[in-house]
Formats: sequence, structure tokens, C-alpha cells
Amino acid sequence: MKKIAVLTSGGDSPGMNAAVRAVVRKAIYHDIEVYGVYQGYQGLINNNIKEMDRGSVGDKIQRGGTFLQSARCPEFKDPEVRKKGIQNLQQMGIEGLVVVGGDGSYRGAQRLNEEGIKTIGIPGTIDNDINGTDFTIGFDTALNTIIEVVDKIRDTASSHERTFIIEVMGRDAGDLALWSALAGGAETVLIPEHKKDVQEIADKIQQGIERGKKHSIIIVAEGVMSGDHCSEELKKYINVDTRVSVLGHMQRGGSPSGMDRVLASRFGAYAVNLLMAGESGYAVGIQNNKLTKTKFEDIFSSHHEIDEDMYRLTNELSI
Ligand code: F6P
Repeated sequence: MKKIAVLTSGGDSPGMNAAVRAVVRKAIYHDIEVYGVYQGYQGLINNNIKEMDRGSVGDKIQRGGTFLQSARCPEFKDPEVRKKGIQNLQQMGIEGLVVVGGDGSYRGAQRLNEEGIKTIGIPGTIDNDINGTDFTIGFDTALNTIIEVVDKIRDTASSHERTFIIEVMGRDAGDLALWSALAGGAETVLIPEHKKDVQEIADKIQQGIERGKKHSIIIVAEGVMSGDHCSEELKKYINVDTRVSVLGHMQRGGSPSGMDRVLASRFGAYAVNLLMAGESGYAVGIQNNKLTKTKFEDIFSSHHEIDEDMYRLTNELSI
């Protein structure tokens, strides 16, 4: 393979730049020409494709966001629209494409693979909701961002004896909520994978107050309900002073953690290795600290699951 391209797609995540850097540098190391597609699949359709040199990715490893920029591009589901993107790649002699993104981005990559472009996916999303990998790029950084905020909220919650409801991202997955609840010592976590009775939560908070607890932290995944709705529900059962914090897009920003930079670098280099070996239609991942590859169709064939042991542990430690 002589020419490859890389793009970032869907919601950005800290570490995407490190992944692009690894793809570019690894390709150049092996004398492969490498191109950056700007603005995800939208840029592929619009022919916003530029050659990268080793300097193009200098001073990027520590930066959040994605310098290639990203876009959600529902039109890419249309085969006629995809054809334009494929033609743009073929006219430049580009045979392989690395797509850094989440589940939706992988579906586009799978189609491109079926339609003649060799594609490899790299899991980039803060949600950690992709099958075939223990971790996605950006999850660790987002987790650390949340924990920092939870620690700060705990200070003021304690001073005012309040119950705080902190709404975190994750789309339909509870990983960010679960991990931040465990790491932040939250009293309660609500995740889409497990139904919890609001009355039960209210009873637990009441018992805590009776034992002299000065505050309570409830972490609610956006996939369950909004923080405001959670507060309204809680107040049906208990008379507590509540405040709601919706962390929002701050969870997507910031300089990537060391873990995310290393993960992204390993994924990027491995994706190039696979393309060089003529492989296509796979997403890379990490399982038990070993790099793995999984066919796109296997990734889509089942729902992402949370770590049930961790859920149990979080509940056991938050008594
Ligand atoms: O998939 C990443 C994510 O941040 C989700 O956690 C969240 O639900 C969604 O993207 C928000 O999307 P947007 O930035 O398009 O509002």
C-alpha cells in the first residue's frame, strides 16, 4: 500500500490528535504517503483532503479536540453520497483509510470497506461504549475531568449539607457514570444498564442524614434521565436541599491523559500495520493490555456491556 488517509469522525475525544499523529508518523516511517481528511466524512465528500508530513502532526500529541476537525454526517448513509467520497480517494490513489471515531463512524467505515476502500477503525469516544475493546480513546481523560469536578462539588455540598445530582455524558452507556461514581466515592449511581428505584435512593439518603452525613452525591448517566428530572423525582420522596450540575461538553475537552496518549499512539500504529498487511474491515482495540482487531460486523452484533463486578463493588462501597 502506497497511500493512506486518516479522518476523525463523530463526537471528538481527547487523544484523537495523538492517534492521528501515530498514523501519520508510522506511515511516513514506512515510506507510505499519508493524507488527512478534514471534517470527517463531510470532508471526504467535499474533497477536503491534504497531504501530511511529519511536521503536520508536531505539537499535537498534548492537544485536546481534533485538529482534523470532526462532523456528524448522516448523509454518508446514502450510497450515492459515499460514492463521491470514494471517487475523491481513488482519484488521489488512496487505497486505505483509518477512521477514528465511535459506533456511527464505524458503520460508515464498514460500508467503505464493502465498496472497495480498505478501512480500519480506531475507537475514539469518551463514552467507552464500543465492543471489541476494553477502552476507547478519551474515556480516561473524561473520567478524570469528571472526578476533578465531583471532588470540588463535594466541598461545597458538605459546607451546605446538600444533595448534589451530577449528570454525566455517555449516551446510552453507563461507563463514565459508573467509573466516576466509584472513583469519586458517590453515594449513588444511576446507569442505563440497571434500573434503580428512586424511593430506594431517597431512603438511602435519609439514612445517611440520620447517621450524620453532611452531603450526598448522586451521579446520573444522561442515558437514564436528566439531572433535573432526577431531582424532581427524588423530591417526591424526601425533603432535601438538592442542586443539579450538568457537566456537559467540558467532559469532551482538555489535554489527553497519559493513558489516552499511549492508547491512541498504540492504536494508530497498529492500524497502519494492519493496512500494510492488506487487512481491512476491522476495528482495533485493547483487551487485557493486548492490541486486538475485531471485524466491524462482530462489533455491531451485540450491545456494549458494563462491568457487572464494578457495578456491584460501587454499590457495596457506597453504603
Ligand atoms: O458520543 C460522545 C458524546 O459526547 C455523548 O456522550 C453525548 O451524548 C453526545 O456525544 C453529545 O453529542 P453532541 O456533541 O453532538 O451534542
